[in-house]
Amino acid sequence: MADNRPIGVFDSGLGGLTVVREIMRLMPNEDIIYFGDTARVPYGGRSSSTVIKYATEDAELLLRHNVKLIVAACGTVSSVATELGKDLPVPYFGVVAPSAEYAAKVTKNGKIGVIGTRATIKSTAHKNAILKIKPQAEVFNNACPLFVPLVEEGWYKAEDSVVKGTVSRYMEPLKQAGVDTLILGCTHYPILKDAISAEMGEGVQLVNMGKAAAEMLKEYIISASLCNGSETKGRVKYLVSDKTEAFGAVASVLMGEDIGLNDVELVKVTL
Ligand code: DGL
Repeated sequence: MADNRPIGVFDSGLGGLTVVREIMRLMPNEDIIYFGDTARVPYGGRSSSTVIKYATEDAELLLRHNVKLIVAACGTVSSVATELGKDLPVPYFGVVAPSAEYAAKVTKNGKIGVIGTRATIKSTAHKNAILKIKPQAEVFNNACPLFVPLVEEGWYKAEDSVVKGTVSRYMEPLKQAGVDTLILGCTHYPILKDAISAEMGEGVQLVNMGKAAAEMLKEYIISASLCNGSETKGRVKYLVSDKTEAFGAVASVLMGEDIGLNDVELVKVTL
């Protein structure tokens, strides 16, 4: 059995493309519809009720495009809008549980760091998920609110002095804590992985939520007979709620191919 409908993926902005890339790598035949809520990014500093309202609207938008399942490629949504999947008519996946499971498996000293937006860290979603699997683990959190604007601005290179200084300041308490595993708890952060890794050192394993989620998704799609039956390479359709110059430029870096504003369709959301 096959299901040729696309996979729906959404994020507050560009960061979710790090998840799209991992899905494409593992499931190259799948079509994907990506919605980046660029008019309302960032979500990370907003109240829970606003994040839930936006996430519900984002999922409804994807449902109108006849998706077979929905992935919230956003740490903030996955941590805060935990009930979102309950009301959806298609399977729903967040990115927290797979990354927590992976981190709990690979840590050697039991000290796991989690970085994310303020809303994600306040929710303690990763910590709760890790402790459920590995109660003896020690989890150290730090919110990094300046990372998302840096990435959305296209400032992510490890040698950039602003990036270096910001990363160094946020990583300090986690270095002090001696974590050997660090969950990049926001899907924007893998873009900063070189800078973060340079600061934390080689002994610290960085966990990319997109990678962990794509692996779990693949297992599910196979077991639920939802694979796309086509032999051809899948396509990605990009929807955004605001066409910003930055989207094309940063999306191209994230996806490793040229994405111009003409490849992106504008959709309406309530502001
Ligand atoms: N990619 C989102 C996340 O994972 C970005 C956060 C934001 O919009 O503040 O949390």
